[in-house]
Amino acid sequence: MDVISVIRAKRDRARLSDEQIDWVVDAYTRGAVADEQMSALAMAILLNGMDRAEIARWTAAMIASGERMDFSALDRPTADKHSTGGVGDKITLPLAPLVAACGAAVPQLSGRGLGHTGGTLDKLESIPGWRAALSNTEMLDVLRGTGAVICAAGDGLAPADRKLYALRDVTGTVESIPLIASSIMSKKIAEGTGSLVLDVKVGSGAFMKTLEDARELAATMVGLGTDHGVRTVALLTDMSVPLGLTAGNALEVRESVEVLAGGGPADVVDLTLALARDMLDAAGLPDADPAKALADGSAMDVWRRMIRAQGGDPDAPLPIAAERHVVPAPATGVLTALDAYAVGVAAWRLGAGRARKEDAVQAGAGVEIHAKPGAPVRAGEPLLTLHTDTPERFAYALEALEGAVTVAPEGTDFTPGPIVLDRIA
Ligand code: URA
Repeated sequence: MDVISVIRAKRDRARLSDEQIDWVVDAYTRGAVADEQMSALAMAILLNGMDRAEIARWTAAMIASGERMDFSALDRPTADKHSTGGVGDKITLPLAPLVAACGAAVPQLSGRGLGHTGGTLDKLESIPGWRAALSNTEMLDVLRGTGAVICAAGDGLAPADRKLYALRDVTGTVESIPLIASSIMSKKIAEGTGSLVLDVKVGSGAFMKTLEDARELAATMVGLGTDHGVRTVALLTDMSVPLGLTAGNALEVRESVEVLAGGGPADVVDLTLALARDMLDAAGLPDADPAKALADGSAMDVWRRMIRAQGGDPDAPLPIAAERHVVPAPATGVLTALDAYAVGVAAWRLGAGRARKEDAVQAGAGVEIHAKPGAPVRAGEPLLTLHTDTPERFAYALEALEGAVTVAPEGTDFTPGPIVLDRIA
């Protein structure tokens, strides 16, 4: 087997054989296929696609590249959720402790920012002392002790995805249904969760821009999960507008804590509760009441224990960026659009995301949103505040925001659409 013939086959729109897939995933994991060769193959897959059987085999090869975890010794059912990635998508932060407070165990293996979308680990690392890397034993201890753990997948879990995910981030090969489905599902199946709720984002700020592509991605992932014995459900949710009022690491942690304290923006609360209900249902706890667990502080208690168990101080002040720049509303009227992709790219350029896989992110960088579509705005009043430690980035971030905002005349009747667009089980 040689890698060039595998690349050529996919470049020329052929189906990859089981043997080719098993070999190339294994050889890349071992370092026998170079990053530039895997980049070329990833681009060929992005451009020419894979059929369902190829995706299933690619996923199985990624699972087989490492170990599988087993939570069957826990005395609670396990439930996990995974988002395909969005702008301002901080939902995992309030959701994991909330579902744990309702009786499930939530082993949440999370990732770092990918492209213009933020990563849960990058967000949590803005909490002083918090540690993403846990051994399997430590992970199990936190899960047993608090009911929820959010951490990086260990080196042994789907190592093929770990390498490929970082490579795709910097080679323009993220937005591919086969690569996204296999990346997410290999980690979730290897992790050993009993049930899984997928949050498949749709819209400008998502990797899937149309409902049709999002449905295809959701159905592919639900099929992969079900075939491996994981109860899997997908919600298709709107990502044409950023979620909540913040995009950026520490900014999003602050907003998540507001939700756990019983406040926070309505869209974040609504989506957190919708996903919690499906997770609890899939875990066999349909009578649990997540709204009550948010209101009575029990989800906040789990959050505080979970952050402490991973070395973090839930009471420590969060980092604040050194510099701010206010973007005013361009006109008076009703805000009818705030483009999620533009806000995501702006946050990324301000330092919340990375341009090269070895880059560090800025904890305080990002975009604060003062009005969401449907709200009245006045010309010249603050619409967004940009945060960064490196003010030379402001001009580049402002460029990303050109054309991102639409204001309709005063009195325009505009109601934002629902956050949950569809459900695939
Ligand atoms: N999340 C993942 O884990 N992988 C992807 O490819 C995209 C989002």
